[in-house]
Amino acid sequence: MSNKIAVLPGDGIGTEIVDQAVKVLKALGTPFEMEFADVGGVAYANHGHPLPESTLKLAREADAVLFGAVGDFKYDKLERHLRPEQAILGLRKALGLFANLRPAKCFAQLTGASTLRPEVIAGLDILIVRELTGDIYFGTPRGRRTAVDGHFPGTPEAFDTMRYSVPEVERIARVAFEAARKRNNKVTSVDKANVLETSQLWRDVVTRIGREEYPDVTLEHMYVDNAAMQLVRAPKALDVVLTGNIFGDILSDEASMLTGSIGMLASASMNDKKQGLFEPSHGSAPDIAGKNIANPLATILSAAMMLRYSFDMNEEADAIEKAVEKVLAAGIRTGDIMSEGCRKVSCSEMGDAVVAAL
Ligand code: IPM
Ligand code: MN
Repeated sequence: MSNKIAVLPGDGIGTEIVDQAVKVLKALGTPFEMEFADVGGVAYANHGHPLPESTLKLAREADAVLFGAVGDFKYDKLERHLRPEQAILGLRKALGLFANLRPAKCFAQLTGASTLRPEVIAGLDILIVRELTGDIYFGTPRGRRTAVDGHFPGTPEAFDTMRYSVPEVERIARVAFEAARKRNNKVTSVDKANVLETSQLWRDVVTRIGREEYPDVTLEHMYVDNAAMQLVRAPKALDVVLTGNIFGDILSDEASMLTGSIGMLASASMNDKKQGLFEPSHGSAPDIAGKNIANPLATILSAAMMLRYSFDMNEEADAIEKAVEKVLAAGIRTGDIMSEGCRKVSCSEMGDAVVAAL
């Protein structure tokens, strides 16, 4: 097995947090071949494109991509196709990473770090399964034109297209049902079938796959507005949450707050060849970049997901997750999850602590 990892730190805090995950991977003693490349704003600055051909080639050839974060205020004025975010969208599309797994788990030691009451989130363990290569993110046609109908004909308008095909929904539904079988045998599929044609197709397909292939898994459907409410009202009633690209984007940020900090939320984006891109769910936080104060745990936990999903190294993945728990139990905290009586550490000290616990 080649065990090749493309390491793409990106912008803002990307470099600091990815450094910590690399440190943890190296501490395992398994020989990974790691190759670094620019992505996002820094790639635009150095190569004129957020996803240079050389970076894409490296990512295609690797078994897994370890990704930091992209984006910075200074690139906000660029044309859309040159913005840092296009790098992550381009990688998802080019590698066919249709299945995004975002576990929201509340570590026992962090129940006090959330803005929600401890009893609402203690023991929380949700898996969001977000479809990642379809929906309004990639649907065509899209663009600008002069309106010919609608409320204001003759005026400039913009439009995007929400669309899903049957096979696209089938394959992501199977990912969610399979995951549910390894957990508590329950899937909540989230859509807006009371309004959207796309969502009605989504609901029909998920229902059929559930009935025909996974009769042992309990399936419920929920409208996305209600799901947003249930996530803060009674999140522990949810287990596997299956949803589309745009709803999953929004709900996963909301779910991150149940874990104490978005700095804790890992993410895996997989294709059907077990190739994956692993990144924290948070962004590049340019306001705190270079200060060595970011929380690297989401990235370290993403590296654990990489071991589990792309390299079948379950023991090593468990070991990293246990090490993180141990560090939290020892009262070691970055600023975002700091609470009274704990010891505040820097980003790199947090990485060192996880390595020591390993
Ligand atoms: C995420 C991010 C991305 C998305 C952006 C950076 C394009 O918010 O991974 O959730 O919307 O998918
Ligand atoms: Mn997002």
